[in-house]
Amino acid sequence: MKKTFLILFVFTFCNQITFAQKETTIVTLKNDDKAPVINKNIYGHFAEHLGRCIYGGFFVGDTSKIPNTKGVRNDIIAALKDLKIPNLRWPGGCFADTYHWKDGIGPQEQRPTIVNKWWGGVTEDNSFGTHDFLNMCELLETEPYLSGNVGSGTVQELADWVQYTNFSGKSPMSDLRKKNGRTEPWKVKFWGIGNEAWGCGGNMTAEYYAGEYRKFATFMSDWENTGGITRIASGSNSGDYNWTEVLMKNIPLNMLGGIGVHHYAVINWNKKGDGVDFTEEQYFKTMQSALKMEELVTKHGAIMDKYDPEKKVAMLVDEWGGWYEVEKGTNPGFLYQQNTMRDAVLAGATLNIFNNHADRVRMANLAQCVNVLQAVILTDKAKMITTPTYHVMKIYAVHQDAKLLPVSFQSPLYTVNGETLPAVSASASKDKNGAIHISLVNVDAKNKNKIEIDVKDLGVKNFTGTIITSAKLQDYNSFDTPNKIVPTAFKGFENKKGKLEITIPPFSVVVLEGK
Ligand code: AHR
Repeated sequence: MKKTFLILFVFTFCNQITFAQKETTIVTLKNDDKAPVINKNIYGHFAEHLGRCIYGGFFVGDTSKIPNTKGVRNDIIAALKDLKIPNLRWPGGCFADTYHWKDGIGPQEQRPTIVNKWWGGVTEDNSFGTHDFLNMCELLETEPYLSGNVGSGTVQELADWVQYTNFSGKSPMSDLRKKNGRTEPWKVKFWGIGNEAWGCGGNMTAEYYAGEYRKFATFMSDWENTGGITRIASGSNSGDYNWTEVLMKNIPLNMLGGIGVHHYAVINWNKKGDGVDFTEEQYFKTMQSALKMEELVTKHGAIMDKYDPEKKVAMLVDEWGGWYEVEKGTNPGFLYQQNTMRDAVLAGATLNIFNNHADRVRMANLAQCVNVLQAVILTDKAKMITTPTYHVMKIYAVHQDAKLLPVSFQSPLYTVNGETLPAVSASASKDKNGAIHISLVNVDAKNKNKIEIDVKDLGVKNFTGTIITSAKLQDYNSFDTPNKIVPTAFKGFENKKGKLEITIPPFSVVVLEGK
């Protein structure tokens, strides 16, 4: 297993990453006209009706004392706008295949309740529904990504949802929307056709799901005929390559906008380990699982290339992130966990992988946005804090819609108990104004790493840097010390006549900007 993993790291589309124990890692950046643009949607998020993500997270209701706009917390809106979140996936997750959207429209007091079967068996009163979510996306200036119900819903129901949200003419669903107070359609572009169809979405085989997908997709029209909707298939569970093969083979490419792969970084599904109280061995295992993303996108991408050499179909990683045991004393069904420097390193290295595969990976959604799994925001009643992962997403936002500068380098190794991982992770891009951004992660928990980058031919002279690090890998932002981990100026580099000599401390994330 280990050997295969290492060999796969050697060849990727745009970065030749090999391994060597060298004093200094030489990173080469290629200014390649043919390189892809990093789709901003790689920096997307996910909000499910799960635990305190929506209720008690985003949504407190308009009678709450917590400052809000139509029930959505103003502090969360401000923090996410600052993060420039490009898209938000909703309402699930597993919840999506139990969700009947018509339960969540019309006067709130008349909406039926259901039981949230997957997440704690709590009562869902449907007070946050389609209007609430899509209006919130407008406030956030972000693109909504709706996950349709295939598992327990009907073709008619999903077709109606598209008509309800997207049709401006006269029709039963647009009339209903208008009756509920919204004249103009929202024009939702991204539509998931089911979620985890291989599991909570219906335990389907790949062949059966491909048939279901074709049927649902047929009736989901772009009601305005503007080519405006992207239909997204429920993709594989991590390394289930057969799933991708069957979907690519059986779904006509003109019906398939993208395939959404899911992969969580987990030590062991039966023993996930604590979110804060973890050892270096556990950190290593988490990173081993997280860095598997390189192999996953490479292998799923190779299968997609066979059927779609022009790369018209996008790969999405529409659920990713670290998954640990829930915080002690919290509801096991609510998936609330802390977020430490481990999560910052995990986020930085994973986003570098997505950037480097921007030719095929065109959307990703961190699971999840608020109070669930690897959240960027945590709330405790009126208090709200941003996590180390938030800060990584923030300093990486410079890559959104920038042109990839493919990187190649030989990574030194990070060794724990005789097992190894690449210690250095990197990606780079050039934005519309010609500024260069290089993001570097030192995965090694103990040793600093020296990196050298020749930037002479990039047309930039002055570099500045930002770093996210802390004294301990287990450090986190608490409600009492909310700013323990924040980006600070990074001075650990010198520009020696166009050669950047960088020393990056253990478990840290750095972004260099050249102008
Ligand atoms: O993000 C939590 C859950 O993980 C989602 O509901 C599901 O799609 C996945 O298994």
